[in-house]
Amino acid sequence: MQKHYWITTYGCQMNVHESEKIAGILRARGYAQADAEEEADIIVFNTCCIRENAENHAYGNIGALKKLKKAKPEMLIAVGGCMTQQAGAAEKLRKKFPFVDIVFGTHNLSVLGELIDRKLGTKKAVVDVWEKEGEADTEDISFRTSYPNAWVNIMYGCNNFCSYCIVPYVRGRERSRESGAILREVNGLLDQGYKEITLLGQNVNSYGNDRGDCTFWQLLNEICKRKEKFRLRFMTSNPKDFGEGLVRAIAENDQVCDLVHLPVQAGSDRILKLMNRKYTAKEYLEKVELLRKYVPDCRLTTDIMVGFPTETEEDFQATLSLVKEARFSTAFTFVYSRRSGTVAAGMEGQIPEEVQKDRIMRLVELVNAQTREFSAGYLGKTTEILCEDFDKKRGLYLGRDEYGRMGYFASERDRIGEFVRLKVTKVAGISLEGEICEDTEEEKEG
Ligand code: 5AD
Ligand code: SF4
Repeated sequence: MQKHYWITTYGCQMNVHESEKIAGILRARGYAQADAEEEADIIVFNTCCIRENAENHAYGNIGALKKLKKAKPEMLIAVGGCMTQQAGAAEKLRKKFPFVDIVFGTHNLSVLGELIDRKLGTKKAVVDVWEKEGEADTEDISFRTSYPNAWVNIMYGCNNFCSYCIVPYVRGRERSRESGAILREVNGLLDQGYKEITLLGQNVNSYGNDRGDCTFWQLLNEICKRKEKFRLRFMTSNPKDFGEGLVRAIAENDQVCDLVHLPVQAGSDRILKLMNRKYTAKEYLEKVELLRKYVPDCRLTTDIMVGFPTETEEDFQATLSLVKEARFSTAFTFVYSRRSGTVAAGMEGQIPEEVQKDRIMRLVELVNAQTREFSAGYLGKTTEILCEDFDKKRGLYLGRDEYGRMGYFASERDRIGEFVRLKVTKVAGISLEGEICEDTEEEKEG
């Protein structure tokens, strides 16, 4: 009888792609995707621990399965992802949720199939979280569901130890994949007709430092030797390592999107120092200038945090000023979350919740105003959308432009996977609506 899986993912793009790998492993074992969680033979939680709310969310959802597991004891429940990789987390999970069958970590995701076999042969739970990092994998095992977009890991882990961040503890030190394996994967995806590739790493600028044979911008240049039309994106860049080599690769390769995600975190030099970010606000803005000198139309997005320990109103004002000066087209905003085991968790001067809330509201207001301003600039203009889906509720196709703006439009025929020129007739918040104003590339050529 056909067996089914269900995967719930928390956290970032990295995790979404790792869930594609988990799906690949399960499919190789004969599982197909279930239509609903209750119908699955195995439920996998791919967790995230970067902020407390993501963690609480996962704990809540795992706990909610107790009843279902009682009714369906043969159903397997597996918990993986970076939450399990924290010191003591696997034991805590087992204690809180004794009905969980398998606990695995980010370092041994690739052996999930073997853990399932082990569990099927025993009544006891299988808990296997590797402390030591696994090798950076060489070949792709993903089951992809995001056509025409595809994510490709180029490296794992992080060496930066920003004082608030749990990632280096749970994902280990930087390990770059071999450039040949990355090129094989990217070329294979382009051969299959994927139109947008996003290269993933915690700090893509230091790609290859542990290997010494290929830098990140060389990798971009290699990929862009392909002559067909496609988009190449990457995330995330750390400002401290962002420089001229990469800026030139963005400027010189048409396929590399003119959009850079460059997390700034804060605008106060005192806070940046406490965060161990290794740049000042002035240095950050100089990098932005460098980028805009080479790529005048480039858009910039960022991550910003408020309420870091000891942050004063003056520090927060410095963040607001930087947001205005850097002219971000949009920003992801976060309230600092105390992560046990990090340096910042032990700092004096943790900020009360109501102060954090007040600051995040003011920050979001500013960011939204800037985002709306950018969107308003689209009205009456044309932009190129890569169509990625059909919104059944609205009866419209949708996709993103080079700068990440979502655009909706009507079409009589399926446009998924096509580049479409859109004349923007309406702007709503951060998304656009418009009419196809020109034939697609494919039609022009045909
Ligand atoms: N609290 C709040 N936000 C955090 N981030 C990382 N760690 C924390 C934390 N402890 C944010 C940073 C990072 C993004 C991926 O998540 O802004 O760039
Ligand atoms: Fe965390 Fe800093 Fe590494 Fe990003 S660069 S993953 S914020 S430690």
